[in-house]
Amino acid sequence: MRRIMVAGNWKMHGSLEMVETLLGGVINGSGPDSGADVVVFPPFPYLQLVQSMASGTHLGWGGQTLNPEPKGAHTGEVSGSMLKDFGCTYVLVGHSERRAIYGESNEDVASRFEAAQSAGLVPVLCVGETIEQRETGLTEEVVAGQIDAILARSGVSAFEQAIVAYEPVWAIGTGHTASPEQAQAVHAFIRNKFAALDDTIAGRLRILYGGSVKGSNATELFAQADIDGGLVGGASLTVEDFLAICRCAD
Ligand code: 13P
Repeated sequence: MRRIMVAGNWKMHGSLEMVETLLGGVINGSGPDSGADVVVFPPFPYLQLVQSMASGTHLGWGGQTLNPEPKGAHTGEVSGSMLKDFGCTYVLVGHSERRAIYGESNEDVASRFEAAQSAGLVPVLCVGETIEQRETGLTEEVVAGQIDAILARSGVSAFEQAIVAYEPVWAIGTGHTASPEQAQAVHAFIRNKFAALDDTIAGRLRILYGGSVKGSNATELFAQADIDGGLVGGASLTVEDFLAICRCAD
């Protein structure tokens, strides 16, 4: 049986008080025996607090991005080894907001993916198309291009220790979740793309869906053959909404 992952990307939300309440609630309300691996991606300043609250529990955590360089004159940036210092297991790379707002190209994302693995972190590679790309039939081409940039740099074996998150841009923060069939079709495309290179890696690869995941739609999404969990934004910011999604994995 697949073990579903439910990951909360807090984006640039939170406060000390919120982190304490949210994390305490999530740790107490989800358990090591639940059907989901539960992971949170807090803003950098809260990583130390998350580490102190979540160490020794079932909860995992990670950074929302990293700089490709291990160190240097990069004011405002954070390296993979710094994330490791605060107990991170994972790091998001190529989130659509990083691509759209901060101009990260497929090649930039590939260098971050490589830097993550060099630092001993598991990259969660985010891919997905805009509404214009979907409506002009470019979904598979766009997603393939985003994955090919990583394959060209790191090779298929890099995906033995990586996660892919399909996040259609038109579904993020809009309330318009992809239907289970729409999401499954792209997830199957992604898995088949890897299967053409390595069947074992493709079979083991976790492919998360992100984009307006809620307690009311997660069960149906997670029931799809190639959907191995969710990368959750808005609904990861309140204990009850996030736990409702975690319970859908049971
Ligand atoms: P929402 O769940 O708010 O649509 O955000 C999805 C997302 O971008 C997670 O990384």
